[in-house]
Formats: sequence, structure tokens, C-alpha cells
Amino acid sequence: MKKITFDAPLLSHNTFGMNVKAAVLAEYETVSELREILADPIIADLMLAEKDKGHLPFWHIGSGSNLLFTGDYPGVVLHSLAKGISRITNDDVSADNTDGVCLLKVEAGTLWDDVCAYCSENGLYGPENLSLIPGEMGAAAVQNIGAYGVEISKLIEEVICWDVKADKEHRFRCDEMGYGYRESRLKHAADKARFIVTSVILRVQRARKLHLEYAGIKRALGIENVSEADLAASNSPTLQEVRDAVIRIREGKLPDPKVIGNAGSFFKNPVVDNSVFYPILAQYPDMPHYVIDADHTKIPAGWMIEQCGWKGKDLGRAGVYEKQSLVLVNRGGAKPEEIVRLCQTIIDDVEKKFGIRIEPEVNLIEGR
Ligand code: EPU
Repeated sequence: MKKITFDAPLLSHNTFGMNVKAAVLAEYETVSELREILADPIIADLMLAEKDKGHLPFWHIGSGSNLLFTGDYPGVVLHSLAKGISRITNDDVSADNTDGVCLLKVEAGTLWDDVCAYCSENGLYGPENLSLIPGEMGAAAVQNIGAYGVEISKLIEEVICWDVKADKEHRFRCDEMGYGYRESRLKHAADKARFIVTSVILRVQRARKLHLEYAGIKRALGIENVSEADLAASNSPTLQEVRDAVIRIREGKLPDPKVIGNAGSFFKNPVVDNSVFYPILAQYPDMPHYVIDADHTKIPAGWMIEQCGWKGKDLGRAGVYEKQSLVLVNRGGAKPEEIVRLCQTIIDDVEKKFGIRIEPEVNLIEGR
């Protein structure tokens, strides 16, 4: 069923706990309901008015776990209520079919962690390192969510969209999605205004293939000293054990949005030219970093923010989480402008200290 709310409170639609409103919140379960919404004269007028002012015609949200509304939003917020996971190949779980690929069709409004749980329960490898990442399937595919050495783009076969301009379905193959670190074509205005993700085809594996490179996962599983060969030869850890370890790591480091408002990592980890990286490393030899290629290195923004003295500190009712400086939190009743002020202060401080301008990872949805 579709649900259209005017002057809609968004408190329960964003994990930052921002008490803001949208002119319209329109939720739908099916593509035909989405089309009815887009054709509704009041909604169409609002979308046109936003477009005329140079803004996106609408904002499509998932569960609001990676965004910050910077104020009341004068336009149309869309949200898919379509949920479901179906197998489209290799349906026979009981057979000796242990090395095949399994394709899953996941509706855009499905909770991402429900997909991870389904795969662990059914012996399907791939998403386990991405367990407990908040959000829904559609947003996960747009955002290219990642954690512990895995990005969702590695699991995506196709992203199925509704093309608003052409009024028909459009399917993007993974290699057409422009995927990069927290990056895809659907994050950019031209495509964001045109394509709405309705479902995603995931490619998961029956063959046992785990990604245990991230030291924290090995530590959590107590297998730091077990060789790759021994791990490959044994059936331990199990898929479920890896999922459980990832969940334990996340619960230990990241605040539960149900308890304390936040949107996960607030900033992206910057990838810098080595001419920028080496002088900083000379000054901070213990700085954690990841080699990207011969000329570029990724520096954890959380480390830089901590070096600036922000870990666990507040500015008004906005704060920096005590266990992970990449996460900004709502200490209770924070207004959007308080989070924005903290964000800008941190960006300026990091730039002053390291000469690197970090960028938000969360989507800032401009209120007016
Ligand atoms: N670090 C600090 N101080 C901090 C935070 C981190 O020194 O306050 C150091 C850590 O000790 C470590 C390094 O920075 O050496 C990296 O930290 P961590 O492994 O916690 O990961 P991250 O780079 O801060 C990224 C993702 C997370 C993801 C983790 C694990 C981004 C923007 N964030 O964080 O994703 O869970 O790696 O793979 O890439 C999210 O996107 O919302 C998110 C939580």
C-alpha cells in the first residue's frame, strides 16, 4: 500500500534523531504505486518547483541511517516499503551444489542486515563482513557500503531502477554503476534525479570463501596466529561465526542509533597523493594508513580527528563518539545546525593540523 503524508515528521526516518519535517513523505510498495505518486498533481508541482530552483526534484531515502537533514525539507521525500529476498538461481539448497553462484533478488526496502542474516542461515558467502550495517538494500547499493575489507559492489550483479524520465525500468550492470570507495553514479545529481532503485540482484557464493584479512576480525575470532593454509584446510570459522564476530566488533565500537543518534561514519577516509602522505608519516610514524596504489594512500579520518583532540568531545549537543572519532553523535535534542557546526569545525581543525580537507560521508539534505 502507498502512504502519502503532508507536513511529515521525519524523526522516525533518520537515525541522527533530527526533529525535522518534509513537505511530503511518500512511501510505496510497488512500482505502480511509485508511478502514481510521481504523477500526483500536488507532488508533481512540488517536484517541479524544486527543480526550477536548481534542486533535486525529490530525495529518496532508505532507513535514514546515512543522512543528515539540515532543516525542514520543502520538497518530496520518497521511501520504498518493498521488502523481500528471492533466489533466482540455484534454488536447490539441499543438493551437493556447494560451489555455485547464487543470485538473489532483494527488494530496495529490505533491511540490509536481514540480507546478511538470510545468507548466513542459508550457507551463502559474501555479505557476512557487512553484517549489522544499518540501512536498506537500495541505499546500500547507491552508497557502496563497506566494512572489514569488503564492499557491497563486489556482490552486486545488477541494480534495477525505475527511470523517472523515460517512465520505464532500467537495469545497470555492476560495471555501469561507477562504483568506488563509498561512491556510485547514483550519488550524483543527474542520475539521482532520474533513477530510483527498486531492487538489486546480488551474487553470493555457496563455496566457502571468507575475508579474514582485517586484523580485528581475526582477533575477535581468536585466530590471529592460525596460518592461511590451516584456515583454508579447516571448516572453522563458520560463516555464522564470522557474522557474529563482525557484529561484536561493530557493537563494541559503534553507537546503537536506537540509543544515541548517529549516522555511522560521518566522514570519508581521504585518499591522498603520496607527496602529501609522506611528510605527515615522517611526523607521525605510527599513523595507520592503507596503500591504495603506487601514488596514493588512504588515511583514517578518525585517527586525524582524534589527533586534533576531538575524541569524546562535544560542541553544544553534538559530539564526537568516545570509541570512534569518525562518528558524530546527537547527545540528545541536538538541532541540525549543531551537528553541521561540529562537522565544519572538525573539517577546519583537521585541515589546519594536517593540510587535508576531509569530506562528509553522510548525505547532507539541505533544509530551508
Ligand atoms: N582510529 C583512531 N581513532 C579513532 C578512530 C579510528 O586512531 O577515533 C584508527 C584505528 O585505530 C584504525 C584506523 O583508524 O587504525 C581505522 O579505524 P577503523 O578500523 O575503526 O575504521 P575506519 O576507517 O574508522 C571504516 C569505515 C567503517 C567501517 C570500518 C571497518 C569509512 C568512512 N568508514 O572506518 O564504516 O566499519 O572502516 O572496515 O570508510 C560507516 O561507513 O558508517 C562505517 C562505520
